[in-house]
Amino acid sequence: MTKSKKISNIKANNAEKVRDFYNKNTDNFIKVYGEIIQAFRTTNVDEYLDYTIKSANLKAGERALDAGCGVCGPATYFAKKIQDIQIEACTVSDAQAEKGQVNVEKNNLNAKINITLADYHNIRDVYGKDQFDIVYFLESFGHSTQKNILIDACWEVLKPGGRLYIKDLFKRISEDEWEQLRINQICRDIEIGYEYDIANLSGVLDKIRSKGFILNFVKVPEVDLSQFEHLTISNDFQNLFNIAKIESWDDYVFPIDFFEILAIKPAISNLDNMHLYFMNK
Ligand SMILES: C[S@@+](CC[C@H](N)C(=O)[O-])C[C@H]1O[C@@H](n2cnc3c(N)ncnc32)[C@H](O)[C@@H]1O
Repeated sequence: MTKSKKISNIKANNAEKVRDFYNKNTDNFIKVYGEIIQAFRTTNVDEYLDYTIKSANLKAGERALDAGCGVCGPATYFAKKIQDIQIEACTVSDAQAEKGQVNVEKNNLNAKINITLADYHNIRDVYGKDQFDIVYFLESFGHSTQKNILIDACWEVLKPGGRLYIKDLFKRISEDEWEQLRINQICRDIEIGYEYDIANLSGVLDKIRSKGFILNFVKVPEVDLSQFEHLTISNDFQNLFNIAKIESWDDYVFPIDFFEILAIKPAISNLDNMHLYFMNK
C-alpha cells in the first residue's frame, strides 16, 4: 500500500462532534439515564457499578483514569466505595465537565476526583507517561474514530502492570449475508444518532494484543438476567429525543453485543523476558 493511500484511510478524529453532541444532549441523558450514562445496566444501577468494581478489579490506593467520564456518576460512586482511590476523570464535553464538578463537590470528593476537559486521544500529553494503575472506558471507547491511536495512548499512560478495561457495545457479526447487511445498516443509524463508531471486536483485540498487552478476558457482562434492565432506558431515550429511533420493527435485527475487555500492560517486557512471562500474572 502506498503511503498516501494509508494516510487517506485514517479516519478523522470526531472529538469535536462528540463534544457538541454531549453539550447539546447531556441534560436529556440525565433526565432518562440519571448520572450513569450506560445502556447495558441492571435495574438498580448501583448493582451494575458494584459489578464493574469487581470486574475491573478497582482497588484501594489505585490511581485510575476514567476515560469518557460523563457527569462523573460512576467516578463518584467508585470514589465513595473505594478507599484512597484517586480518579482522573476526563470528558470532551464542557457541559459534562461542569456538571461533573458540581457532582464531585456535592459529594465532597474533591480530594479523590479531578476532572479534566480533554480529548482522550491526547491523554499522553495531558497526564504523562506511566501514570495509572487502570484506564477504564464505560461505554465511551466506541465514540473514538481513531481506536488504534487511543489504545496506543492508553499504553503510554499506564504504569507497567497497569490494566486497560473497556466495557462497550460491539458490532454483531452473522454468517447470514442479509442479516449482516441489516446489522450494518442499523449500526450506521446508531452511529449517526450518537456520534459513535461501533467497534469491531476482533479489530480491537488484535490491536490490544499486537501492542503487547496481555489479554486477560473478553466476556459478556455477567449480570443476573432477572436484574438486567433490558435496554428499556436507551429505547425510551431514543423515542423521546428522536435519536437513532427505531422507525419500524419489520426486518429489525439486534445489531450489537456488549462485551467487557480486560488487558494488562506487562510489568516486564514479554519480548525480552519470555521465560518470565507468567510472573506477570
Ligand atoms: C455514553 S457516555 C458514558 C459516560 C460515563 N462513562 C458513564 O458511564 O456515565 C460517553 C462519554 O464518553 C466521552 N467521550 C467521547 N469521546 C471522547 C473523547 N474524544 N475524549 C474524551 N471523552 C470522550 C463523552 O464525553 C461521554 O462522557
